[in-house]
Amino acid sequence: MKVAHICFWFHVSLTASGLVNAFDPFTTTLVVGLGATLGRTIYKYFQENCDQKWIAYNTTGLKSDLDSKLFGQHIASRIILKAVNGFMSNNNPKKPLVLSLHGWTGTGKNFVSKLIAESVYVEGMHSRFVHVFTSTLHFPHAEQIATYKSQLQQWIRGNVTNCERSMFIFDEMDKMHPGLIDGIKPYLDYYEKLDGASYRKSIFVFLSNAGGDGIIETALDFWREGKQREEIELKDLEMALSLSVFNNNKSGFFRSTLIDKNLVDFFVPFLPLEYKHVVQCVLAEMKARKIPLNHDVADKVAQDLVYFPKSERVFSVKGCKTIESKLDFYI
Ligand SMILES: Nc1ncnc2c1ncn2[C@@H]1O[C@H](COP(=O)(O)OP(=O)(O)OP(=O)(O)O)[C@@H](O)[C@H]1O
Ligand SMILES: [Mg+2]
Repeated sequence: MKVAHICFWFHVSLTASGLVNAFDPFTTTLVVGLGATLGRTIYKYFQENCDQKWIAYNTTGLKSDLDSKLFGQHIASRIILKAVNGFMSNNNPKKPLVLSLHGWTGTGKNFVSKLIAESVYVEGMHSRFVHVFTSTLHFPHAEQIATYKSQLQQWIRGNVTNCERSMFIFDEMDKMHPGLIDGIKPYLDYYEKLDGASYRKSIFVFLSNAGGDGIIETALDFWREGKQREEIELKDLEMALSLSVFNNNKSGFFRSTLIDKNLVDFFVPFLPLEYKHVVQCVLAEMKARKIPLNHDVADKVAQDLVYFPKSERVFSVKGCKTIESKLDFYI
C-alpha cells in the first residue's frame, strides 16, 4: 500500500516537471490550440444554434398552452394550432407561414406570438432566431421609407441565410407604411429561392388592431341575441374583417398589394374579452407570481376595470392589458 502511494507521487512529480519543461513554442501552440477548441466546443454547446437541439416543435406543448393559458379566444386558438401544426409537420413547405392576427387591444395577440415562439424555439422569445419589429419604434419617419426598406430586406435576408427556421413578428402592422409592407412581400411568396436564400421555412406574424371594431360589433350582436360566445364562428367575422382591413383606405394593408396576392395564409380574429376572462387573467398572473390564488382579489381587480358599451358593460376596454401592473395595488 505504502509502495503504491510513493510510486503514485513519483509519477505525479515526473509528469508535473515534464509539463514545466514542455513549454517550448510548439507545445505551447498545441496546448493553447487544444484549449481554444475545447472552449469553442463548450461555447457552441451552450450557445443557441440553428439545429434540432434548439429548434424542436412541440405540438402538445402548443395545444396545452393554448387550452390552458389563452382565455376567450376559441376561434384564434383553433386556427393557430391548425396553421402551426400543419406548417411545422411539413418538411417541404411551398412558402413561409404567414399569419395575420387582428383584434381589439389587450386580447392576446402578442401573447399568442409568444406561445408560438415557445413551441418552436427552446429559447422562446429570447431565441436569436425570433425577431420583433414594431413599426412606430423601428420605422418612425415616413420620409426614410426607402432606407428602412433596404435595411429591412437586408436584415430579413441575413437572418434567413443564417437560419431558415426564423420567425419575424411585425407589431402594429396597421401603422406600417405600405411601401415597407410591399418591401417584405417577396419573402412571403412562393419562391424556391430568392437571392440564394430559401424563406419557405420561416414564420411571419403580423399583429394589428385593424378589424377590431368589426369583430366587436359581431361579438356584441351575439351577446345581445343571448347567444353563447363560443357559437361565434370564423365565417361570422370574415365580413367584418374584410370590410375594415381590406376596404379601408387608411389601412397599410389595403394600400399594399399583400392582400391581392393571397400571401397571408390565415387571418386570425381575436374577440374582445369579458369580465370572466379578466378574472382568469388575474388568477393566471397570481399563479405566475407564485402567490396564493385569491378569487376575491381577482374579482376586485376585474370590477375596477372599465367596460363597454357603457350601459351594458360587456367587454373590457383594455382587455387584460393592464392586469400585471394593476395587481400590485391589490396585494
Ligand atoms: N386572451 C388572453 N388570454 C390570456 N391572457 C391574455 C389574453 N389577452 C391578453 N392577455 C394578457 O394580457 C397581456 C397583454 O396582452 P397582449 O400584449 O397580448 O395584447 P395585444 O392583443 O397584443 O394588444 P395590443 O393590440 O394593444 O397590442 C398578455 O401578456 C397576457 O398576459
Ligand atoms: Mg400587441
